[in-house]
Amino acid sequence: MDRAEAAQRISELREQIHRHDYLYYVEARPEIADAEYDALMRELAVLEARFPDLVTEDSPTQRVGGQVDAFRPVEHRAAMLSLDNATRAEDLREFEARIGRALPGGRFTYVCEPKVDGLGVALLYERGRFVRGATRGDGRVGEDITPNLRTIRSIPMVLRRPLEAVADLEVRGEVFMPRRPFERLNRALEEAGEATFANPRNAAAGAVRQKDPSVTARRPLDIFIYHVSHAEGLGLGSHWETLAALRAAGFKTNPRVEKCGALDAVIAYCARLERDRDALDYDADGVVVKVDSLQQHRRLGSTTHHPRWAIAFKFAARQATTVVEAIEVQVGKTGILTPVAKLTPVELAGVVIRNVSLHNEDEIRRKDVRVGDTVLVERAGDVIPYVVQVITARRPPRARPFAFPTSCPACGGVAFRPQGEAYWRCMNSACPAQLKERLRHFGSRRAMDIEHLGEVVVDQLVDKGLVKDFADLYNLSVDQLLHLERFAEKSARNLVDAIAASRTRALGRLLNALGIRLVGERVAQLLAARFGRLDAIAAASVEELGEVHGVGRQIAESVSRFFADKANRRVLKRLAASGVVMREPDAVEGARPLSGKTFVLTGSLATLSRDTAKDLILGLGGRVSGSVSKKTDYVVVGEAPGSKADDARRLRVTMLDEAAFLTLVGKGAEEGTGQR
Ligand code: IVH
Repeated sequence: MDRAEAAQRISELREQIHRHDYLYYVEARPEIADAEYDALMRELAVLEARFPDLVTEDSPTQRVGGQVDAFRPVEHRAAMLSLDNATRAEDLREFEARIGRALPGGRFTYVCEPKVDGLGVALLYERGRFVRGATRGDGRVGEDITPNLRTIRSIPMVLRRPLEAVADLEVRGEVFMPRRPFERLNRALEEAGEATFANPRNAAAGAVRQKDPSVTARRPLDIFIYHVSHAEGLGLGSHWETLAALRAAGFKTNPRVEKCGALDAVIAYCARLERDRDALDYDADGVVVKVDSLQQHRRLGSTTHHPRWAIAFKFAARQATTVVEAIEVQVGKTGILTPVAKLTPVELAGVVIRNVSLHNEDEIRRKDVRVGDTVLVERAGDVIPYVVQVITARRPPRARPFAFPTSCPACGGVAFRPQGEAYWRCMNSACPAQLKERLRHFGSRRAMDIEHLGEVVVDQLVDKGLVKDFADLYNLSVDQLLHLERFAEKSARNLVDAIAASRTRALGRLLNALGIRLVGERVAQLLAARFGRLDAIAAASVEELGEVHGVGRQIAESVSRFFADKANRRVLKRLAASGVVMREPDAVEGARPLSGKTFVLTGSLATLSRDTAKDLILGLGGRVSGSVSKKTDYVVVGEAPGSKADDARRLRVTMLDEAAFLTLVGKGAEEGTGQR
């Protein structure tokens, strides 16, 4: 092949590769297999190696360049301004009133766009070729990060119509790291023992400022383009048309942009996106509302700080910093010691957060949370708040690493952390804190369902020595209760009656109520269904117990150990003597707690396969359906959920994350998943 032929073939190959990049990275609808794409790239690389003078900067082979020493300062074509902020609908109305005063008689239509929480960048194209990309910097002068931006495959190196011939084009966009790749990256960093990033934004910021573009290239970055800041003679009339032109030219624009004819539609869009923010695959911290007409943009102009034709509607913050005032260790019903950070109260997305679980010793050590530390806490969606990281720069000089107690903070008994387990346990079976937790669980709605046996009552019963085990509950008298705080004749009678009424609960409930390690609602149901009587379960061997489908070796051993314990047998005997029914009654009440409930599963769950989850639901009397409708009771949302999660949101069906689902089916944290 001579030089002319090579030049011809190189040009064809580049064109094809650009097109496939566009289809893959921008449109997410590839037309060829990865192997075919790789073959095109290889052919191009071979030809370029033979004819090095034919290599150009915009060749797909040149996406990942060599090391850079420093990022040169570059002046933007037009200043990169900030945006004015709104937090309430009234602020948006005020915005419209303001632009109405500036352009009397003007009528406004708008474009709404997610405000992606990433890094603003300016991209420069000369005659359709990417020549330079820069960070925002101070707004006037940014840093030249061209080699790093080249590695982002959704940034086109060569533009198509209608922007291919523009002599000097500057566009703005937001570089971001989508959530799932971010989580993968953090997991990989953690496994490699390296520092993780607090959020996708920090990860993206770190990636674009790498001195080695090959590192940036391995970071899963993406970009949405949302503004043309410099272009001569394009003749576009509106922002909406601008977005269409950007898209046609090969840029990736946000698919959730919407044109709104009036402010009410803008307000509705903001509310909708705030509600849906967790379903986006990137972090968005608000909505950018832009006047659509470019003529109006020019007439409204800008302040030194922000354009007057746009405003950012900010979502309620879900991350905040606050101070750890203390770390308390709480005792669970099986004796597990859980450290809890007591925080200076802070509001997160409308809820005041005072406590946050630190889970276990390893978790505290990994995050190195200390009393006095300032921490970043997050509460995303319906999820329980957690500590993202410590702001070490604000650590008081005397803060010491947290030392996990080696004795139970409630009873002073010996605490022990078995080898290979994450949790410390109080080994004192008479520990009052454990007893309180066990009694609370015993009376809870999904166990013996004893009304009026609340937390405060349980505390008093244990503290006054009236109840030392479950059986004592059934011997309480109205007179005894009258000596307790806040009890009157009527309330005392109510509690005694409620306890008496619990005697005839189904066997599954009783088994669950006993708080046997690894036996939650589901296992309790399985055992009750198989054996029908408590004494039969107590008499069963580990092998016999293990034969029940869904009862593994560990569970069988735990059950067997429980019934072998003399103290436990004594309590059971006394329970029976107080009239607690210890066999499956004929009319099975509550044995199918999910009966009549319809579930839909979407996404993958971390600890269960789809089939196991299905079995769990069916086993408890529930139904599993393939699609979400108004009749659906719960949608279980795993990782990478499909459109069913959107349907659930739209139809306002209750959504459960994995933890909530496991709790519902009785496999929540305290029951254990066999991993402890
Ligand atoms: S428009 C003149 N649109 O938010 C153009 N900005 O606080 C002004 N941002 O620095 C920006 N998504 O980095 C615009 N759809 C969007 C945006 C967006 C995110 C960022 C941008 C800007 C910051 C303003």
